[in-house]
Amino acid sequence: MGKIISFANQKGGVGKTTSAVNIAASLGVLGYNTLLVDLDPQGNATSGVGVAKKNLQYTIKDVLMGKIMARDAVIKTDFQKLSLIPSNMSLAGTEFELLQDDSPEPWATMKNAFLPLKAEYDYIIIDCPPSLGMLTMNSLSASDGVVIPMQCEFYALEGLSQLMITISKIKEHYNNSLTVTGILLTMYTNRLLLTQQVKNELKKHYAGKLFETSITRGVKLSEAPGFGVPVYYHDKKSKGSTEYLSVANELSTRI
Ligand SMILES: Nc1ncnc2c1ncn2[C@@H]1O[C@H](COP(=O)(O)OP(=O)(O)OP(=O)(O)O)[C@@H](O)[C@H]1O
Ligand SMILES: [Mg+2]
Repeated sequence: MGKIISFANQKGGVGKTTSAVNIAASLGVLGYNTLLVDLDPQGNATSGVGVAKKNLQYTIKDVLMGKIMARDAVIKTDFQKLSLIPSNMSLAGTEFELLQDDSPEPWATMKNAFLPLKAEYDYIIIDCPPSLGMLTMNSLSASDGVVIPMQCEFYALEGLSQLMITISKIKEHYNNSLTVTGILLTMYTNRLLLTQQVKNELKKHYAGKLFETSITRGVKLSEAPGFGVPVYYHDKKSKGSTEYLSVANELSTRI
């Protein structure tokens, strides 16, 4: 059975999408049959793998609203062993609609819809929006693991403890198989003293959860989405590409 992994952090702009896209692509390169799911109305993961957000036949919204089977929303990308369930602005109202739904378990919609996909993929990587609303709740309730991308900043530590509380509540009430797969440091710059201090704090409080590899801040990573390709297909030899491959490798040993 495949594993479902949410990439989540309620803080915006911390590298969720960059990490979800590049780790999903790296898992594909490593030979794993991988599905990337865009769960953000911003649709950054969709355009990040070269799929136009306009005029999509189906999106994740149609799956969550029960209009189609999850399988029917899957698009093949141009990249090795990588498929996508896309998203666009139409997802914006879904948070509310999920709550309005008569379903007694509005947080379990995604879990139920994705069950058949688990047999078809080795990894299903979900790029969550920057909030802890009903979409992220659905994603965490459907997941086996969660990867938390974060920047090496003081406020990030405060956000992390809030997120950890939410994760343990979801584990307790909705999904007892949920575990934290790893915390991933993004946009890393080794030179700063603050970076070292935050890293040491993380090691102290979340021993074993921090990925060995951190993702260095680099221009190749920020320009790849403009070409609609994961960084491996933009510049295979770049630091961003080798670092994300290495994190994908590490992830595959953890879950
Ligand atoms: N390692 C990196 N080096 C340079 N730029 C990066 C790196 N990681 C991410 N970025 C850039 O930082 C910005 C935010 O990254 P990203 O979109 O992945 O964050 P996010 O957490 O998904 O944001 P949101 O909360 O809006 O969904 C983007 O412009 C991205 O290209
Ligand atoms: Mg994002």
